[in-house]
Amino acid sequence: MPISIKYITLKIIIIAMKIEEVLKNGTEGMEVEIKGWVYRWRESGKIIFVIVRDSTDIIQVVISKSDVNDEDFKHAKNANIESSVVVRGVLRKDERAPTGFEILASSFKLIGKSENFPIYKDQSDEYLLDIRHLWLRSREMNAILKIRATSFYKLHEFFHNEGYYEVQAPMFVSNAVEGGSTLFEVPYFGRKAYLTQSSQFYLETFIFSLENVYTVAPSFRAEKSRTRRHLTEFWHCEAEAAWLSNEDIMKFEEKMITYIVDGILENNTKELKLLNRDISMLEKVKPPFDRLKYEDVIKIGQNVGLDIDYGSDLGADEEHAITKKFEKPTFVVNYPKKLKPFYHRPDPDNPDVVLNHDLLAPEGYGEIIGGGERIWDYNELIQRMKEENLNPNDYGWYIDLRKYGSVPHSGFGLGIDRFIWWVAGLEHIKYAIPYPRNIRRVTP
Ligand code: 4AD
Ligand code: MG
Repeated sequence: MPISIKYITLKIIIIAMKIEEVLKNGTEGMEVEIKGWVYRWRESGKIIFVIVRDSTDIIQVVISKSDVNDEDFKHAKNANIESSVVVRGVLRKDERAPTGFEILASSFKLIGKSENFPIYKDQSDEYLLDIRHLWLRSREMNAILKIRATSFYKLHEFFHNEGYYEVQAPMFVSNAVEGGSTLFEVPYFGRKAYLTQSSQFYLETFIFSLENVYTVAPSFRAEKSRTRRHLTEFWHCEAEAAWLSNEDIMKFEEKMITYIVDGILENNTKELKLLNRDISMLEKVKPPFDRLKYEDVIKIGQNVGLDIDYGSDLGADEEHAITKKFEKPTFVVNYPKKLKPFYHRPDPDNPDVVLNHDLLAPEGYGEIIGGGERIWDYNELIQRMKEENLNPNDYGWYIDLRKYGSVPHSGFGLGIDRFIWWVAGLEHIKYAIPYPRNIRRVTP
């Protein structure tokens, strides 16, 4: 039977593509459609050049009066910076175009016209923070946000692969974990509550059920510090594991840090390049990381000219000077117990120091993780609390854990914003988080 083709119409469907895909798989002469925002705009006679950006990249679009209808040309003329647009056209290779290709538009639609965009060159940092809700569109923030997304994703993936359970702890709490001086007090129906400084004590409760647990949540510190690494609200990845020693948990951490850094190298080289990050430094992040004793780090500090002695706390400036020449993350172990919160387990062989560690990021960044072995003996815990003038009655449920089948255990907290600050090679932690919070800033 003859087949009639009379009623079949051929329709070419052009599927909208992300710009990155166009640049990667596009070929000369291919017809494409992209959706995005106007990044740059310039007019030259009867031709308008628009650089369009989407979440993935930028591409130049050429709108020639002779190639589009009058309405579309008007659209192109009115498409000022940050207007949203839908463009269709033919792809052409052009060395001079910012990303090697340009689209010769056959259609150009203005979807949402932008008012005059309030961001242009050389504006102050404070101003850019005031309009962070718009600054998130910048290529730098776009790159940082992608590295951030990879970091969270890879963290979850790592813990999942290692057999850890994700748990959730409350943010309204009634105790200090890291000392009373940095607690945010919140009125709570006629009582006082606090915003959590760390979910550690809650994680310790979960290990008696699940053994290996972690959480990713904000922590809050009412720190008046104006350093390059302090936020009042930061993202905290904390883990706790039954039966593990300080050394065991450090091994876990170096594997974790390596895993996330590898994930970023695999997924975000383009972003790291855009941020001018020296990738070779990240390629060095491989286990094992050195373990230095606190007392030896004091000597390193003295050798680089710091005025510190055994017993000095290491703050942002000291850690910056000490780690400036470090090429890999480095553990510092066995801090004097006086420098650390009461829950750290004193070393049975030298009770003046604790079985703890900080992980210092290299290149001047400093502490990104704090952790260690916890006191798991009831009497030892009560004694340490009394030495620190803490009232055991304020920590009833935490102490309870030492009464009902206590176990040796260890854990740590990774400051995710600090991690991103280092990995992305940023100058200040405020660039590592979309909406930074510090003493002066709670908006936008
Ligand atoms: O060293 P910290 O205070 O340790 C704890 O909170 C433990 N309870 C964690 C645990 O063992 N579960 O904080 C842990 C990490 C720091 O190493 C740092 O990376 C980050 O949290 N951090 C901050 N990040 C940004 N701004 C701040 N103000 C921070 N304070 C701590
Ligand atoms: Mg610390």
